[in-house]
Amino acid sequence: MKRASWLALAVIVAQGAVSMAHADGWGPTAASNNPADGIAGTRHNMSMSYLTPANRATMRIRRNDYGEVCVYCHTPHGANNSAGGLGMPLWNRTVNMTLDYELYNIPTTLGLAGEQAVTHPGPASLTCLSCHDGVTAIDSIINMPGSGMYMQSQEESVDMGFLATWSTDTLEHMSLAGCTLCHNAPSGASPGDFTNFVIGGVLNSEATDISFKFDLDSSVVDLRDDHPVGVRYPTALTSQAWVDFEQMNVEIPGRYAFFDDGNGRADKHEIRVYDSGDGGFEVECASCHDPHGVPNAANDEFIPSFLRVSNESSALCLACHIK
Ligand code: HEC
Ligand code: HEC
Ligand code: HEC
Ligand code: HEC
Ligand code: HEC
Repeated sequence: MKRASWLALAVIVAQGAVSMAHADGWGPTAASNNPADGIAGTRHNMSMSYLTPANRATMRIRRNDYGEVCVYCHTPHGANNSAGGLGMPLWNRTVNMTLDYELYNIPTTLGLAGEQAVTHPGPASLTCLSCHDGVTAIDSIINMPGSGMYMQSQEESVDMGFLATWSTDTLEHMSLAGCTLCHNAPSGASPGDFTNFVIGGVLNSEATDISFKFDLDSSVVDLRDDHPVGVRYPTALTSQAWVDFEQMNVEIPGRYAFFDDGNGRADKHEIRVYDSGDGGFEVECASCHDPHGVPNAANDEFIPSFLRVSNESSALCLACHIK
């Protein structure tokens, strides 16, 4: 099925230049991966201003082209103020609170049980999951650019009618799983493979085969095959033993704890754990990733996969785990 839809596309794709993939998947026709360009030079530039006009027109059919980088995630006014949106930075996206996240929940290292170990993903994960769970439309925001383009109900549910008021060019408002209908081409081929960018996929509770992902009728997102999020990190706050974990040297209750290099601030290259009110600091998506990109030491490329610390020689893992 997927293969066939990719083949059907081959004709369209053959007309465009075939891009050479960058080592981490970024190609010269996509974002530049150059820190000098900021987030606009990364895959999180959903405005796709870097695409050729022809490719931009193709993409405009699948999601609203707001012509701005930040607006797909943030808004200066009218940000998500719902229970789900609290604790997120001026968040402009729909946070679907009807979704349940099934987490890896057999933690052995700390030997904690129940809520002591794993809770619901916190705000610093739900931000990412508002796209990467593969369910919510990439362009589903509360406050579109321009005056009078605000809809409060967008905070918790997607209103296709509202999204359609942006442009008649856009025929469908696709989720990340939707994008993979075309973006499932074999490695190195056009238009690229986004399948691995869908973190979780949706668990079809009826199906015996849980590899059947992207069931949009289900309300359970399966994160059991991902590094746990909403999982407790040992800190002084919870007086746990640092069994097998490095001790973070700054802890700010109500916010986060992090490995500080001496300036007392959580810099973007510093791994952190978040206090989202569950009684301790927890690992979330943004513990390991910065969605705006983090420059490498030479400052000439972003670290691949939006990581805060390059995972070469497992450095990211070893920053927390003593192994
Ligand atoms: C793909 C989504 C996305 C886009 C696009 C985006 N941001 Fe963010 N931004 C986030 C997330 C997620 C956080 C919270 C990170 C965390 O939990 O620590 C954040 C946090 C921030 C913060 C708080 C400080 C920090 O870095 O944590 C600022 C300021 C910010 N963003 C500004 C911007 C600006 C300005 C733009 C556009 C040039 C932008 N962002 C584009 C997702 C995005
Ligand atoms: C507005 C939707 C949106 C939000 C919010 C968002 N992402 Fe993404 N992300 C995408 C899309 C779309 C792609 C890939 C497709 C592309 O190239 O445009 C992507 C790609 C990625 C990639 C792959 C990068 C690469 O080059 O291999 C990583 C890693 C990633 N996102 C992590 C995150 C994390 C972590 C967060 C939260 C801190 C986040 N994203 C928030 C939409 C989003
Ligand atoms: C109907 C098929 C189709 C769908 C659906 C689709 N795309 Fe594309 N996309 C293409 C084609 C074709 C290209 C051009 C590929 C090339 O030139 O290599 C492309 C190129 C891109 C590029 C630049 C090249 C790259 O791989 O980084 C991005 C980013 C992108 N699409 C994002 C998205 C996002 C996000 C969605 C979902 C909201 C999406 N696309 C849905 C067909 C599609
Ligand atoms: C403990 C650290 C850690 C946490 C927490 C984490 N990630 Fe990642 N993530 C990584 C590493 C390391 C990679 C790079 C893997 C690779 O290169 O194959 C990655 C890769 C990715 C990718 C790109 C996948 C690909 O194959 O290119 C996406 C998208 C992503 N993460 C999103 C998320 C989201 C969403 C969350 C929260 C639900 C999350 N991550 C939580 C460490 C983490
Ligand atoms: C921000 C700190 C942090 C980073 C970075 C990190 N982890 Fe973890 N990891 C944790 C915590 C906390 C747990 C939960 C342990 C528990 O509750 O017993 C965990 C759990 C695990 C588990 C399950 C262990 C168990 O006890 O069930 C594995 C395996 C694991 N991590 C591997 C990795 C790998 C591989 C990387 C690098 C890609 C990584 N981790 C990066 C903090 C981190």
